[in-house]
Amino acid sequence: MSSKGLVDTFGRQITYLRLSITDRCDLRCTYCMPERMTFLPKKEVLDLEELYALARGFMDRGIRKIRLTGGEPLVRKDAVDLVRAIGRHVGSELDELTLTTNGTQLAQHAVALADAGVRRINVSLDTLDRDVFAGLARRDALPQVLGGIAAAKAAGLKIKINTVALKGVNEHTIPALIEWAHGEGHDITLIETMPLGVVDEDRTDRFLPLSKVRKELEARWTLETSEHRTGGPSRYFKVRETGGLLGLITPMTENFCAGCNRIRVTTTGQLYPCLGGGERVDLRAALRSDSPEARLEAALDQAMSIKPERHNFRIGAGEAPAVERHMSMTGG
Ligand code: GTP
Ligand code: 5AD
Ligand code: SF4
Repeated sequence: MSSKGLVDTFGRQITYLRLSITDRCDLRCTYCMPERMTFLPKKEVLDLEELYALARGFMDRGIRKIRLTGGEPLVRKDAVDLVRAIGRHVGSELDELTLTTNGTQLAQHAVALADAGVRRINVSLDTLDRDVFAGLARRDALPQVLGGIAAAKAAGLKIKINTVALKGVNEHTIPALIEWAHGEGHDITLIETMPLGVVDEDRTDRFLPLSKVRKELEARWTLETSEHRTGGPSRYFKVRETGGLLGLITPMTENFCAGCNRIRVTTTGQLYPCLGGGERVDLRAALRSDSPEARLEAALDQAMSIKPERHNFRIGAGEAPAVERHMSMTGG
């Protein structure tokens, strides 16, 4: 494999890989998937060796940050083994190995993750109200998630909370969540809901532009623009009164694609160069071929040649989702 960097046709350097290791999840958030979700048969999914081989191949091509995603990555039984294997490269080929998790399994795994080289994790948590949580996630798992977050903190992991802002659902509970997160020493990022995959509800009813949330928060607190960056799409503010960082991810109202530095791979080895596009390259076929290195190399070059300039998300009444894949497939 060559050590040529990954640069797309718009001159964007790709250094951040989001690698989904399972499409399964133990929650059923209403904006993310239907209650009766169909998951992939296990034989379709890459095994541990294949995932590690992919990670190595990407490091050879200049990927410096890997985020494991899902579904819920920690429901996969060998997730921590993979973290250990990739974690050996942190500090040399990799600047960062991290995870986006819903927190339900963190109490069991936090110490092992910290020992394996993870320094920072993102935990999805949409509200601190137990009833709102149970309605939204369709599972009464808030105490379990809070226990997981506490265990991660105790293990020394830096935590960012990710919150999808939803009109009339968790909207009224957002200030209390920010206050709690900052009080615990966690950063928090709000996210606009995106039209990915069919769910049981109409997203139009739920879409909440973060410009509106920001106005409401500014009536309560002083938001100071911050230069803090993590390599992700979030733009940060410091809340003067709490001293904590508040990030906003605004795919719908303020496009950030010009600064895109990332690609994602699904658990079946499909590389999607854009979260919002259908373009894809089959890395599993490359991995399972007679000349995996050369085929992988060519597949990554192809991915760079087809990465689109931007997504075309729209949320409107009767509008079909921009892409058929659910977030749990592509991993965000
Ligand atoms: P940090 O390293 O903390 O900056 O992480 P991140 O924001 O890159 O990752 P995280 O998993 O926390 O992402 C939060 C959410 O941002 C994802 O679940 C997506 O909803 C959204 N997001 C991340 N990357 C992209 C992207 O390339 N395009 C779009 N449209 N949304 C993205
Ligand atoms: N739009 C925006 N965010 C979503 N997530 C899942 N589905 C969607 C969607 N349609 C969020 C989860 C988690 C992250 C991985 O993506 O809440 O924070
Ligand atoms: Fe990059 Fe596509 Fe995400 Fe835009 S939507 S930031 S182009 S992956």
